[in-house]
Amino acid sequence: MDNVKRWVPPVVRGMTSDGETGLVVSVIDASGPALTFPHPIDKQSIDETVHAWRQLFNEYCTKNNSYPASVGIAGLDWALGLGVTFEEAQVAQGVSRNPLEKRVITRANIMQNKISLVTGGAQGFGEGIVKGLVAEGGFVYIADLNRAGAEALALQLNEEAGRQVASALFVDVTNEASVEAMLDKVALQSGSLDLFVSNAGVLKAGSVKEMALKDFQFVTDVDYTGFFICTKFAGRQLALQNMGSGGKYLTDIVTISSKSGLEGSNKNGAYAGAKFGTIGLTQSFALELVTDNIKVNAVCPGNFLDGPLWSDPDRGLFVQYLATGKVPGAKTIEDVRRAYEAKVPLNRGCRTEDVVRALCYIVEQKYETGQAVPVTGGQVMLN
Ligand SMILES: NC(=O)c1ccc[n+]([C@@H]2O[C@H](COP(=O)([O-])OP(=O)(O)OC[C@H]3O[C@@H](n4cnc5c(N)ncnc54)[C@H](O)[C@@H]3O)[C@@H](O)[C@H]2O)c1
Repeated sequence: MDNVKRWVPPVVRGMTSDGETGLVVSVIDASGPALTFPHPIDKQSIDETVHAWRQLFNEYCTKNNSYPASVGIAGLDWALGLGVTFEEAQVAQGVSRNPLEKRVITRANIMQNKISLVTGGAQGFGEGIVKGLVAEGGFVYIADLNRAGAEALALQLNEEAGRQVASALFVDVTNEASVEAMLDKVALQSGSLDLFVSNAGVLKAGSVKEMALKDFQFVTDVDYTGFFICTKFAGRQLALQNMGSGGKYLTDIVTISSKSGLEGSNKNGAYAGAKFGTIGLTQSFALELVTDNIKVNAVCPGNFLDGPLWSDPDRGLFVQYLATGKVPGAKTIEDVRRAYEAKVPLNRGCRTEDVVRALCYIVEQKYETGQAVPVTGGQVMLN
């Protein structure tokens, strides 16, 4: 993908933001765009180019009392369609939102028209987060190693909604080229994102005395290094978006850490170590990316006992923990489950809606970054 196509859509999306969310900005084949910017090579730096473009953009909006339906760059054979929805951006015939109208953002509509991406979105917590964000009125990219699962979920959600509310993307979060390609696709389809949820994770339980190094490294690669790689490329895109907005567009990166990121987990060191590590990364990335108006936070859910990670009859944690003797005296899977429920003051496993509530809180909260928000039913209490 040529470099201009990589950075222009997020910048233009930023220009369309009202501080809360931007329009969908889709790369389209178009002749005669409503507004044409001078070619970036006429300017010396991205900073200067973006500043000059923003002035032209604002002048157009003020003069016409509307957003341009499409934006092009002199000398290039592609343009960007703008719209409140995907459909609107792709036909590029006009934007139904007025740039001068001040939208009222409330708790109830905080995710409305926001664009999110959820890694590991094809099943488990990720699937629940995807469904929750769509139910809140957002558009969600479902990014997963399991391409078929992501595509099936996107199809189901789009059919249920009767319009495009989700799109599937393939990604391996342990691979830089794959994450970069995923975010390039996002730039071409929607300009960029409001919320990036780094949720993909794996778990292999085992005694430190027995665990194979390759198993330890597998968990670390996905759960820890994957968050670094995702933030590297998502951070670049969100920073460009904010640059287009002139520094007033606050966006979010959230990692799904775990209760095991807040306290050790017996015979589960690889996982707990990686999850503790994501909180260190969260705090460090938050300090750096605040200058790009990006908040970085972690959500630390308790055990999702109804999800496939725990309940899968062949490879689930109930089966694994029974086999490794992690719960003393447990003879059946039900014994293991009851032992885990009994540890929770609110007396049940964590559910996906509990995690979605935490995400909406983080997005709505404009005065917090670098935090690890527990969602554990009281099982872990912060000091
Ligand atoms: N299940 C729990 O009890 C629990 C509790 C606290 C935190 N978490 C965390 O929540 C997140 C989701 O867990 P889950 O229980 O839903 O897991 P899950 O195994 O049900 O789903 C994980 C998803 O991630 C995808 N994935 C795995 N490796 C990937 C990779 N390299 N690149 C892209 N996608 C990949 C899988 O295909 C799958 O769709 C994880 O980070 C996990 O650590 C889970």
